[in-house]
Amino acid sequence: MKKIAFFDTKSYDKASFDAVNKDYEIIYIESKLNGRTAIMAKGCEAVCAFVNDTIDKSVIDALYEGGTRVIAMRCAGYSNIDFKAAFGKINVVRVPAYSPYAVAEHAMALLLSLNRKIHKAYNRTRDFNFNISGLTGFDLHGKTAGVIGTGKIGRAFIDICKGFGMKILAYDPYPVKEADFEYTDTDTLYAKSDIISLHCPLTADNRRMINADAFTKMKNDVFIINTSRGALIDSSALLDALKSGKVRGAGLDVYEEEGDIFFEDMSDTVIDDDVLALLISCPNVLLTSHQAFLTREALGNIANVTLSNLDDFFSGRDLPNEVCYQCDTGKIDECRAGKKGRCF
Ligand code: NAI
Repeated sequence: MKKIAFFDTKSYDKASFDAVNKDYEIIYIESKLNGRTAIMAKGCEAVCAFVNDTIDKSVIDALYEGGTRVIAMRCAGYSNIDFKAAFGKINVVRVPAYSPYAVAEHAMALLLSLNRKIHKAYNRTRDFNFNISGLTGFDLHGKTAGVIGTGKIGRAFIDICKGFGMKILAYDPYPVKEADFEYTDTDTLYAKSDIISLHCPLTADNRRMINADAFTKMKNDVFIINTSRGALIDSSALLDALKSGKVRGAGLDVYEEEGDIFFEDMSDTVIDDDVLALLISCPNVLLTSHQAFLTREALGNIANVTLSNLDDFFSGRDLPNEVCYQCDTGKIDECRAGKKGRCF
């Protein structure tokens, strides 16, 4: 049986993989994958990793030396991997989509909770405080949702917003053809949106795109929702915009420096991140710990697609879910496989 070193294991990962795995010996490891822990994969042909693992050149080299030939990301995002270092040595596969609805519905849950102050109402009534002063929201009906990134999740979120009777303004450098919503540029989206929700990947070009300059272009009283990647937002600038009242509220499922914090129980620890501590202390910030994907359906899809990616790899088949240095740096013409899979 081929061995998989499964890093950053949580109880729900083990349950969902054990439910469908028949063909692999999975070695569940609680630690994240990084320069110190890569040695634990020695002798494993495959590594299964997640969003906050560190997969830089030194980790790739250590894995390769230990016999690993494929990294199966059990997520869609891959901004934590040095693909250039992996190219020619270790193939990287991922789960491009496991439930766009899970993430889009969580984005709407954050918006609804923030707008109608459900988090505050919950605490009040639990304390038998039935006063509703200070809980005023606004109707979403008729408001404008600015959606940045109109891929699978962005479009699922747009459909939900339309169900609420909202108007849609969207920005995407690669707009979908025959869209049933309006595209615009970012400046217009900032100026006209009552809520702005981020659904694009993190790239070298859009790191901290929501910064002090962007906030000045936005409507007063705007809601910001981020279920994509933390570094899309300059968190200090967000804090300033919350303090000044420019931003009405922020729903965040991701945070730029979440790596060593999210997914862990830190309740006995003083967190060494003042910006995060201040964000959490704001009454109009709702922060969840990268849980937007966490539905039963998504976990089942992640386990099935990850294992079938590994089946493809070990059977010598093309890898439709491969992520490759050549293809993903826009050099598709240079890719020997022409993006049909298995690039080397
Ligand atoms: P997708 O690949 O279907 O769509 C991404 C869209 O973003 C594409 O249409 C692309 O053209 C667009 N885009 C690329 N660069 C852009 C830019 N600079 N500005 C605006 N749009 C841009 O991806 P999908 O499945 O919709 O996922 C979106 C993001 O959601 C992922 O990249 C990931 O960061 C995040 N995500 C978060 C999860 C969570 O649990 N919080 C789970 C899964 C994904």
